[in-house]
Amino acid sequence: MHEADVELTVFPDDCDPFGVASHAAFLRLFERARWDQLSRGPGVDVFSRQGLWPTVRRSVADFHAPVRAGETLRFQQTLTHFGRTSFTLRQIAHRASDAVAVATAEFLFVCVDAQGQPQNVPDDLGRFFSAGRSSEPIDRVTVNGVSLAIETRGSGPAIVFVHGFPLDRHVWRHQLDTLTGYRRIAYDLRGLGQSDAPDLGYSIAMYADDLAGLLDALGEDRVVLCGLSMGGYISFEFVRRYRARVRGLILMDTRAEADSTEGRKARDVLVAKVRDQGAMAAAEAMLPRLFTPMVPPEIIQSIRTMILDAPVPGIVGALTAMRDRPDSTPLLGTLLGIPTLVIVGQEDVITPPAISEAMAAALPESRLVEIPGAGHLPCVEQPVPTTRAILKFLQSLR
Ligand code: MLT
Repeated sequence: MHEADVELTVFPDDCDPFGVASHAAFLRLFERARWDQLSRGPGVDVFSRQGLWPTVRRSVADFHAPVRAGETLRFQQTLTHFGRTSFTLRQIAHRASDAVAVATAEFLFVCVDAQGQPQNVPDDLGRFFSAGRSSEPIDRVTVNGVSLAIETRGSGPAIVFVHGFPLDRHVWRHQLDTLTGYRRIAYDLRGLGQSDAPDLGYSIAMYADDLAGLLDALGEDRVVLCGLSMGGYISFEFVRRYRARVRGLILMDTRAEADSTEGRKARDVLVAKVRDQGAMAAAEAMLPRLFTPMVPPEIIQSIRTMILDAPVPGIVGALTAMRDRPDSTPLLGTLLGIPTLVIVGQEDVITPPAISEAMAAALPESRLVEIPGAGHLPCVEQPVPTTRAILKFLQSLR
């Protein structure tokens, strides 16, 4: 159990006549878990000592499995948005006995004073939840009205990592840790990880514009761009819009083609499931296809948690953005002057190696590296050879 998790027992008076915890009881349990966690950090008076109160502006809850009296639930709390006067907490309840996620909920709070006027969220709150989530320093940059979580390491020529669906910047852990001699930049796309997750405003073009804004904010004019799968779709769009800012391109387990008619329909089916069942539906759709059979269980678990942490609006937004993305195959032949490394896991079933081979053949300045023992996420499943291939490519650009 993570030290920030809160455990609560379900009692008979939380249950309906069939002995199953009711919806209303879950709202109470989620609230109890929030206060319990605050009591271990800045205190339950973190708001009232500043004359404030956090009012719930919106709540969304998904229930995945029944829970009965006597069972213990483990609640995880994640701050997914930290604005001036509002913040969003995402909460997941797992059954302690088998770690099955039984309910997820998201609460948007606005801090108000006694007159009901919005006031600044206490800084202590943001510090407390950020500290619980990661030992890495987390920075935030606001672009196009959305606050994005970023991590930057080292100095030197910059390389920016763009993650895939529905993941976050932590898939680049090994690359961030080890590519010394370069300024490594990884961020969470809008709607995913710890970035803000607005209800609207998702398109591949918007993700590319966010990236341009991020680079402006970081003072980076030209970068090497490394896009994994959906991150590759965004990289293509970035090149279309901001070509002069790209020194080199790394396309990892991605494809240039737009979705087929069947692919678009499948996106709509998954959108409906995610709206209905929450992030769990995305985890069930993605997890069986991401790895080779040899992947260690702890890697599956970490990616599973990452997906379950993803806010529903961000997952839905990403699916619709991918569904509507343009065909980038006409772009490939025009990329003379942009050295490109194509990387693919040898056992990737989502974007099989044949797709990367065809893409590399269509690119004027490319090399292809296939990573043995890796599926769709070679940066996670085989980080050492993947980082080595990236390093060799970066060195070749000097
Ligand atoms: C990804 O890994 O980003 C997705 O598999 C991309 C896609 O669904 O097209």
